[in-house]
Amino acid sequence: MSKSALVTGGASGFGKEVARQLVRRGDSVVLCDVDDAGGQAVADEIGATYLHCDVSDFEQVVATTEAAEQALGGLDLVFLNAGISTGCGVADDFDVVKYRRAMGINLDGVVYGVHAAIPALRRRGGGSIVATASMAGLTGTPFDPVYGANKHAVVGLVRALGPALAPQGITVNAFCPGFAETKIITDLREHLVSTGTPIIPVEKAGESVLEAFDSSETGQAWLLQAGRDVMVYRFRGIPGPLQDDGTPAAAADPDGPVKP
Ligand SMILES: NC(=O)c1ccc[n+]([C@@H]2O[C@H](COP(=O)([O-])OP(=O)(O)OC[C@H]3O[C@@H](n4cnc5c(N)ncnc54)[C@H](O)[C@@H]3O)[C@@H](O)[C@H]2O)c1
Repeated sequence: MSKSALVTGGASGFGKEVARQLVRRGDSVVLCDVDDAGGQAVADEIGATYLHCDVSDFEQVVATTEAAEQALGGLDLVFLNAGISTGCGVADDFDVVKYRRAMGINLDGVVYGVHAAIPALRRRGGGSIVATASMAGLTGTPFDPVYGANKHAVVGLVRALGPALAPQGITVNAFCPGFAETKIITDLREHLVSTGTPIIPVEKAGESVLEAFDSSETGQAWLLQAGRDVMVYRFRGIPGPLQDDGTPAAAADPDGPVKP
């Protein structure tokens, strides 16, 4: 059965490719972006609807999600994907405006997007959210610590929301690719090529996101490395608490939610 999808950051890269693949398989798509010319061109090219939305603006996210639900007659899939690199570090090169902008788009944008999507998905009886984090959400990124911080936060958000939203039939997963062929790597591309770092084709990224959408997994990080198929990254459970006598506490459940 065909589905209705909202895609953020749809003017370029992963958003454009996912929107294209969803339409190709028969789904209906609203894509949004701040690049109005680029977003409208993608919408016209693939047969989707374009709406302007800055994902770091709460009111715009709520209004756009409502408009997308209305335009499509409901929402089943939400790809919270818009993102940027930071452009500053946290030492002498710190810039509070660039920092807030990166956190606003890469983290607030996902939180606002989930908040706005939940009522629409509930009205549908369930649905699926995929948020684009990054491999930077699973490993250290000395070249962009702020990016590493907000992408880890997206993974943490998704891990928390998976079990919380499961009773409502809503799955939430994080897409965590390595370097992939999109505009965001423009400044890095030469370095990646010269160091022999393989770059993921954007088509493979799109297929991986569709696989996450169609899966019953939730609260998971979907890792995509160049040359490999996408895989669910299984986190190691944390060691549980011990009682005074050194035996495991009855409530210890390292793989489950923290018990009060
Ligand atoms: N390409 C990679 O190597 C790579 C790897 C890991 C994660 N990511 C993540 O993938 C996501 C998509 O990036 P991409 O690689 O397709 O890059 P991209 O630059 O091609 O696409 C990003 C899109 O987001 C849009 N955007 C930027 N700010 C926005 C805002 N405030 N509101 C709405 N849209 C906005 C841009 O206009 C652009 O169309 C990002 O979250 C990025 O951090 C990319």
